[in-house]
Amino acid sequence: MMVPLKRRKVVSSHTESCDGDEIKFPQVVLFLLERKMGASRRSFLSHLGRKKGFQVEDKFSESVTHIISENNSGSEVRTWLDSQVKGQTPPVHLLDISWFTESMKAGHPVQILDRHKLQEQQITEAEVKVFSVPSYACQRRTSLENHNTVLTDALSLLAENAELSNEEGRGVAFCRAAAVLKSLPEQVTSMKQLKGLPCLGDHSLRVIKDVLENGASSEVESTKQSERYKALKVLTGIFGVGSKTAHRWISEGILNLQQLRDSGQTLNRAQQAGLEHYDNLNQPVTKAEADTIGDIVQRAVVSVLPGARVTLIGGFRRGKQTGHDVDFLITHPEEGREEGLMPKVVSYLEAQGCLLYQKTTRNSYLEAQGGPGRPSSNMDRFERCFSIFKLHKEDKQGAKQGATETVNGDPASCLHTLSQKESCEASDEGSEEEKSSTHRRWRAVRVDLVVSPISQFAFALLGWTGSKLFERELRRWAGHEKSMSLSSHALFDSKQGCYLRATSEEEIFTHLGLEFIPPSERNA
Ligand code: UTP
Ligand code: MN
Repeated sequence: MMVPLKRRKVVSSHTESCDGDEIKFPQVVLFLLERKMGASRRSFLSHLGRKKGFQVEDKFSESVTHIISENNSGSEVRTWLDSQVKGQTPPVHLLDISWFTESMKAGHPVQILDRHKLQEQQITEAEVKVFSVPSYACQRRTSLENHNTVLTDALSLLAENAELSNEEGRGVAFCRAAAVLKSLPEQVTSMKQLKGLPCLGDHSLRVIKDVLENGASSEVESTKQSERYKALKVLTGIFGVGSKTAHRWISEGILNLQQLRDSGQTLNRAQQAGLEHYDNLNQPVTKAEADTIGDIVQRAVVSVLPGARVTLIGGFRRGKQTGHDVDFLITHPEEGREEGLMPKVVSYLEAQGCLLYQKTTRNSYLEAQGGPGRPSSNMDRFERCFSIFKLHKEDKQGAKQGATETVNGDPASCLHTLSQKESCEASDEGSEEEKSSTHRRWRAVRVDLVVSPISQFAFALLGWTGSKLFERELRRWAGHEKSMSLSSHALFDSKQGCYLRATSEEEIFTHLGLEFIPPSERNA
């Protein structure tokens, strides 16, 4: 075999007395790592190697086939190697000094045995195995325990920024990358562990690398600091304001709440309520508060329709301890009995003084007239009520913050400690002296109510439990892998040309050919 010109050049450039040494094993190019070996021992061993007919390089280059080290771990050598090579590292043996001394003794390169290899190879394989995940989030279990919050926070911020900038594709890509990391059983410490993982595009990998190497991503940091991001975040933090409206306002020079108030912009009813209750609505809702509201909704619902059922959905059903709102699904075991329920529930709640704002939308879903077809919009067509609840704190003495309240503790509602007949207004008496939203005896909470006929209940439950990415992935799986179309109303099988019925979430997973994932593991 010919020795490539490049190698000969390197050899001939040696200043030591190796010029005369004949290269007997041209397919083997050695490099001895000075780290921990020391310069003089390295020089001695290199010289010895050359005398025996081995090609030993002084400088590391891509032509090196065997890296010899002493008292280094595989990962130490790998780290060093990564620092030497840009991009993919070439295949190279990472060997212990024992291989070198045995080869010197034998007068030729001895066969590489496991005991010669640095441990790194096996560990990497094991890690890659541990970190192998299926590509759809709905095929994975993602609990709330996230071992990679630093990385997922970084990617989620970029996802959020992309979504706020109306770059949906980029947003979803970052979301998917974050979701893959959320599902990993351990903390990622090296890029190597990510090999073969799905949904990690170049951009996401760059961000991850930045965080792993520097502790933070420069892109994330500069996004966080940017005036545009800050303004988008504040303005879309107003209930009723989407990214389109926020962009328009920003282009008119409105970057914060005060500028919005001063601008004289016309706000719709939702936005007015959103601005008025801004602080409360941006304060996380606790599970205890969600449960209290659950009791209120339950009482309202059974009062207007005995036998009707209320189910907590959204993030709280997935086991989250806080949320941005509270979501409920309402149904009745007899099909059709749920019709007209929402306006009655809303009237009841309004009469109790529980609602600071509400907007009810009609059910516009008619399976008989065309069905769900392609879920072109993920806006569902159930009878739905977007509302802002007035939630009373039980403790009359003073201000307890929502975040510190406990399940059996403080939060009380208009109905919590009062008899059914007494209203929110009654319990509100005497609270006028406290004007500041943090010190008064009630807080505003976003609550979403959805009414579903029992025939669609399982689909609604699945569709409204989230997470948003989990739902998106379920629909993508259904479409791409199964030629089915899933919505919060129904599952349509395009191949068979019919709807597939289900009375439980489990049945829907079965129809989709997926293993059942319980709500607590849908936190993708
Ligand atoms: P949320 O936005 O309330 O999210 O939607 P969440 O998971 O409860 O998290 P929080 O509230 O920020 O803590 C709940 C579920 O309802 C579905 C979403 O897909 C999500 O899975 N949803 C929401 C719809 O299907 N349609 C909508 O119009 C809104
Ligand atoms: Mn929610």
